[in-house]
Amino acid sequence: MSVRSFEIDGKAVTGLPEQTIFDVAWESGIHIPRLCHVGGVSNVGSCRLCMVEVEGRRKLQAACMTKVEEGMVVHTDSERLRKYRRLIVELLFAERNHVCAVCVMNGACELQDLASELGIDHVRLRYQFPVLKVDTSHERFGMDQNRCVLCMRCVRVCDEVEGAHTWDVAGRGSKSHVVSDLDEPWGESESCTGCGKCVQVCPTGALFAKGKSVAEMRKDRGFLKYIVTAREKHQWVR
Ligand code: FES
Repeated sequence: MSVRSFEIDGKAVTGLPEQTIFDVAWESGIHIPRLCHVGGVSNVGSCRLCMVEVEGRRKLQAACMTKVEEGMVVHTDSERLRKYRRLIVELLFAERNHVCAVCVMNGACELQDLASELGIDHVRLRYQFPVLKVDTSHERFGMDQNRCVLCMRCVRVCDEVEGAHTWDVAGRGSKSHVVSDLDEPWGESESCTGCGKCVQVCPTGALFAKGKSVAEMRKDRGFLKYIVTAREKHQWVR
């Protein structure tokens, strides 16, 4: 398997053919914004925040979905990219009810961090103010549809790591929403093991632990690294 040599933001880097631009950038300490990507589960390329410019390609490329190639020249930060990223984040804020001041994840939310990184101090689009459900039927956790950005991290971690596949997405377009089992209350789900992995990978306050007040919730994705690496190396198989 031959190593690919290429360039990201003027820095000479190398990667394996199965790696993505995002993987190599991450390993090289180059920051690319993201929401749907989370290491340890498959990529879906749905948020489009990781779009980068690749010289010679007219269209922007999703860094989390584009495999590295020999000699490619990648740019992760430009006026054009910042403009698109800002619009995506504004669309997310306008689509649901992200009221940070009363959110358990205030101060540790990935969407909020992106807004701050992109200098978003107002939203130019009309807020939709949809009426959305909050499901607190689970004994330990809650699901607030108002704060969901449909990154599907919960769907993937539940399916690929926990193996329960409690979560899925129902509806289409702006009516898309995450559901547990066959759109039943989370607390009545027969497949949910109560492991809380979905809560930990959720980038916003959409999935939260009960008992947390405003700005109290902090998430830890560290477990993914151990579980996924141990599985690959068969470390827990006796
Ligand atoms: Fe690449 Fe979302 S992180 S499309």
